[in-house]
Amino acid sequence: MPTQRSNIGQQPENLTERLVALAHSYACETKIEARFRPHSRWAAKISSAPDHEAWLLAWLPGQGTDLHDHGGTGQPSNAAVKVISGELSEYTVQAGEFPRLHRRDLQAGDVSAVSNRTIHAMRNRSSLPAVSIHVYVPKLECMRTYLVDETGLTPSQIKLAGDDWAEASPFHSVDYVCKG
Ligand SMILES: [Fe+2]
Repeated sequence: MPTQRSNIGQQPENLTERLVALAHSYACETKIEARFRPHSRWAAKISSAPDHEAWLLAWLPGQGTDLHDHGGTGQPSNAAVKVISGELSEYTVQAGEFPRLHRRDLQAGDVSAVSNRTIHAMRNRSSLPAVSIHVYVPKLECMRTYLVDETGLTPSQIKLAGDDWAEASPFHSVDYVCKG
């Protein structure tokens, strides 16, 4: 049965509900067909409203993001991710357990809501392609990426949304990952 998971924390409950509702709505309504690219995950903006944005992403096995937040130079975004098909794993930096990452496996139909302070990564660890909807409130302008190793978490780059979502390197820090 699909689940809805949230690490929104102190955010108002109605923001979580709105993010999740938007993700469900776009997942039902989008007519855009996902495409797959061998060198990197594929992404297309499917909606841009004054207060939010929605993206469709497609992931081949092994493709994923760097550890990142939804800030950078602009106002950080809250987000919701809904898996439409396949399976994605989300890695989240957990407060108090640093630098340990928690892994959550999201199946088709599952939604994960993410606060504007969360540092996380998404990866398709499965042997099948995956497609997902991502909703950002407010719209996503930048992502700040991070490196993680035994010394901690280090800010790395600021990437513009969509423009330079080049493929991330697989984690070298498997030892820091546990399944949540
Ligand atoms: Fe993200």
